[in-house]
Amino acid sequence: MDIDALLKEMTLDEKIDQLMQLAAFLFDGASHEGEITGPLSDLGIDSRTIHNSGSVLGGSGAKEIKNIQDAHLKTNRLNIPLLIMADIIHGYKTIFPHNLAISCAFDPKLVEETAAIAAKEAAVSGIHVTFAPMVDLVRDPRWGRVMESTGEDPYLNSELAKAFVKGFQGADIHSSKDSVAACVKHFAAYGAIEAGRDYNTVNMSNRELRELYLPGYKAALEEGALMVMTAFNTVDGKPCSGNKALMRHLLRDEWAFDGVVISDWGAIRELIPHGVAKDEKAAAALAIEAGVDIEMMTSTYVSHLKELLEEGAIEESRIDESVRRILTLKKTLGLFDNPYRFLDEQRAEEVIFSEEHRKVARRAAEDSIVLLENDGILPLSKKDSLALIGPFAESNDLLGPWSWIGDREDVETIKAGIEADDVKALVTQPIKDIHRITEEEINASVELAKASDKVILALGESSDMSGEGGSRSKIELPEAQLDLLKKVSEVNTQIIVVLINGRPLDLTRVVPYARAIVEAWFPGSCGGSAISHVLFGVKNPSAKLTMSFPDSVGQIPVYYNHHNTGRPYDDNNPHNRYVSKFIDGPNKPRYPFGYGLSYTTFEYEDLTLSSQVLTEQTTIDVSVTVKNTGTTPGEEIVQLYIRDHVGEVVRPLKELKAFKKIQLNPNEAKTVMFKVNEQMLRYTHSDLTDYTDPGDFSVFVGTSSEQTLEASFYYQLGSEEN
Ligand code: BGC
Repeated sequence: MDIDALLKEMTLDEKIDQLMQLAAFLFDGASHEGEITGPLSDLGIDSRTIHNSGSVLGGSGAKEIKNIQDAHLKTNRLNIPLLIMADIIHGYKTIFPHNLAISCAFDPKLVEETAAIAAKEAAVSGIHVTFAPMVDLVRDPRWGRVMESTGEDPYLNSELAKAFVKGFQGADIHSSKDSVAACVKHFAAYGAIEAGRDYNTVNMSNRELRELYLPGYKAALEEGALMVMTAFNTVDGKPCSGNKALMRHLLRDEWAFDGVVISDWGAIRELIPHGVAKDEKAAAALAIEAGVDIEMMTSTYVSHLKELLEEGAIEESRIDESVRRILTLKKTLGLFDNPYRFLDEQRAEEVIFSEEHRKVARRAAEDSIVLLENDGILPLSKKDSLALIGPFAESNDLLGPWSWIGDREDVETIKAGIEADDVKALVTQPIKDIHRITEEEINASVELAKASDKVILALGESSDMSGEGGSRSKIELPEAQLDLLKKVSEVNTQIIVVLINGRPLDLTRVVPYARAIVEAWFPGSCGGSAISHVLFGVKNPSAKLTMSFPDSVGQIPVYYNHHNTGRPYDDNNPHNRYVSKFIDGPNKPRYPFGYGLSYTTFEYEDLTLSSQVLTEQTTIDVSVTVKNTGTTPGEEIVQLYIRDHVGEVVRPLKELKAFKKIQLNPNEAKTVMFKVNEQMLRYTHSDLTDYTDPGDFSVFVGTSSEQTLEASFYYQLGSEEN
């Protein structure tokens, strides 16, 4: 397909229509008729637009997507196929643990494997592009969308961003049967919204933006992600969808990204309430000038680009540029040769939610579960007499937000998981409503707890309490659940709390009553058995937190890679008033980044550096011996952090630079090796360039961001001999 020749044949209307994306239900051939409600009801979309739109949002299942494409091609003058895009965030029908959960496995290979399965199920169903990965760096658990992110660290964020893209796009997007194009989002810095209130303002220096927030997106693009989605928020006073500095100067000019940029849902028209455009026409002008190619779910482009062109406010070349990118993406995906791409109804039946995929989902869930507390009560014995109670005991709300194709009917509940593990004496008491627990339910739970040796209490957030629009100002468990916990603890203190949730929670009122806390997140389709495997020690938990759990909401934002102040708090002098601290609580989070327990114990010793001096040409070999000092085989995520002691701008106290997952049998010791080089030490200076300053550095290796061994080296300019 000759894209330039096709462009020449297209009328202006046809070009502009390519820039529009509408939801599947608006198209002929859709299985469900929907209604546009709320602020979208006056879109002014006519049937001409829908027939000629360039792309579709959503569409469920191979049959519907095929019908939509068929109907479209019948009426589209130039036979330009539709691009089908959808949110395949943590699985298509086989649902994996959500992104924050799976990030806790610190395992890029696992992320790649699950993304590849999601892509396979989506591609066979006719989807061409997924709106993923979401790589927004997050520091505020009040934000519901932290569940979609991979946490608070820019390095881990980037490593996992690459893994997602690799998994989705496969080795070669053009020919890989099981691939979909990746659309990295939300550009940029959506994760830094003030107070964690969704869609809110973002304000930060350009330097901080570059050092912490941009690396994830950049890594995804370097790995070949074909699309970018704008963010809803402002950055430095400019909403991203009309932010030329961000979308054109940085993304296009500096990073040379020539793929398709899509607005987030309705975000172009939102330039009006943001207060940077007085009307739709002005909004369209800002967005097209900024370089946003596709407008999702509003119609400012189709309604106003022609007029803007006639008035000379924009040039046709600007429209052509966007259309060319969209057509090029269609060509890259092979749609001109086969508009259905790898859609295959029969194969879909065989592939989707297969036993093989479910096995990976179970393993992924096991690897994502973080053991937060355990005084030795876990693992349980299958002979124990157990009560399983709480609103999540038998709940199938384990998929979490963004699992729209996932079917709750298919979910393995915690109860089903435990029963499948052949546990003999299990009694359960389901609770219907996670917020309003009836007196009857409480009484029945208490009775069961009384009659059992140990109690597994499954508590948490429902999936609509996190995700988009799921910001919370209090991040405790619902009051009714805390009450249940307290009442149960009055009759039985042998309590294991299993948490189902999408964000770090404030666990102040849980910890005192729990002998163990198992953070299971939204574990996905096969979550029940994964949880059971952890509870009974079939799986020794190994995951580590990728986002700090605050001690209280008042500490937020609280994250491990923070700066020192001029008056740092000193543990040895806690009563010094005029230092940076709270007078009513600790500075430290309850559980820090990198933290997570195991059923065994690991000892770190002999942190050794091959040299005390590093230069641009050399590397330092860092080795540490890790020993399993317990009685169970286990996996440990060994973490390497660096501190630059004196910088041109203040440097974080620790920055993650490498990690390795190792397996150790009881009494086994392994020497773990890392390499440190100059590139790992670079940071963004105030002139926005990245380089390393000569000086003293510390390297920390350990089991969490707080528990490490330390050694030091010096970085010197020039070669070692000089
Ligand atoms: C979300 C995006 C998503 C889009 C399409 C928006 O509301 O912010 O993350 O991809 O909807 O569903």
